[in-house]
Amino acid sequence: MTTNTTEKISFSVAEAVKEGLTKKEKSLPSWLFYDAEGDRLFQEIMNMPEYYLTNCEFDIFQKYKQEILSIISSGTDGFNLIEFGAGDGLKTEILLKHFVEQSATFNYKPVDISENVLNLLQERMKKSIPDLDIEPINKEYFSALDSLNEARKNPMVVLFMGGNIGNFLLEDAQSFVNEIANKLRTGDRIIMGFDMKKDPEMIRSAYNDAQGITRQFNMNLLKRLNNKLDADFNLDEFKHYPSYDPQTGTTKSFLISKKQQTVQLKAIDTTINFKAWEHIHVEVSQKFDEDLIENMATEAGLTVEKYFYDDKNYFADVVMRK
Ligand code: AVI
Repeated sequence: MTTNTTEKISFSVAEAVKEGLTKKEKSLPSWLFYDAEGDRLFQEIMNMPEYYLTNCEFDIFQKYKQEILSIISSGTDGFNLIEFGAGDGLKTEILLKHFVEQSATFNYKPVDISENVLNLLQERMKKSIPDLDIEPINKEYFSALDSLNEARKNPMVVLFMGGNIGNFLLEDAQSFVNEIANKLRTGDRIIMGFDMKKDPEMIRSAYNDAQGITRQFNMNLLKRLNNKLDADFNLDEFKHYPSYDPQTGTTKSFLISKKQQTVQLKAIDTTINFKAWEHIHVEVSQKFDEDLIENMATEAGLTVEKYFYDDKNYFADVVMRK
């Protein structure tokens, strides 16, 4: 996963689909959700009553924007704020507005591989925060860090919000954090959003809402394959099924074949056989606790400086320091 709104080139769609559907345990990467319709549905998800994550992070930023600024600006002449996968920037705007109002010395560098996302974000920020020093970087996350490292003298703060880290399997999340940490210097920081373990019913509802928006979001993946790869998935013959395991904290979403069937993907010259009730694993949404976060930070050579929680302790934005 890189970011919502990222339209990958069809070559990589074809490769990923072929690889995922011809494995013994069928799976598809969750970045495939995000075509234009997937982006639209994800915006709807973020506004659903069951999807508590969005409001939690809003609350955290509203409540703790000054404390966050005090931590990241202490002892420096200024800082570089790098955001991975900024999306529409709605939540980041709360922080940025406050930092500018407080005359903090910093620049904001949103990173995304979609130029379109960056253009929209820049337009929006120019209107709402005219004094913001913004410099979008249209690169992959890690090469963006490399190019920044060539010239900077001030510390770097990497923002990765929205609980996006949860969309990696735990070991991949660890590698991702390790790779960021390897590119940081002593005193640099990461601020990362983690969705925390909570009532399992509540977590399941967030991925299985009453209006069926998450179902549409998942089914849209098959629609996308029908359009992009000239496939003939019959959407009525697949079922959206999310599970949550309180032991591991892992939410998994599956598309499940309701019967034995064969699907053709003409554009990649591939035929896929499904047994009745066979699944395609399409998404992981890991939930965390402080032990998991602490271990991840320590293994990456980082120290947890502060947990910022919303009022109900559903979600945490965590400051980690190298
Ligand atoms: C983007 N990401 C953090 C969302 C999540 O909660 O895992 C994606 C999502 N999938 C279904 N609902 C939301």
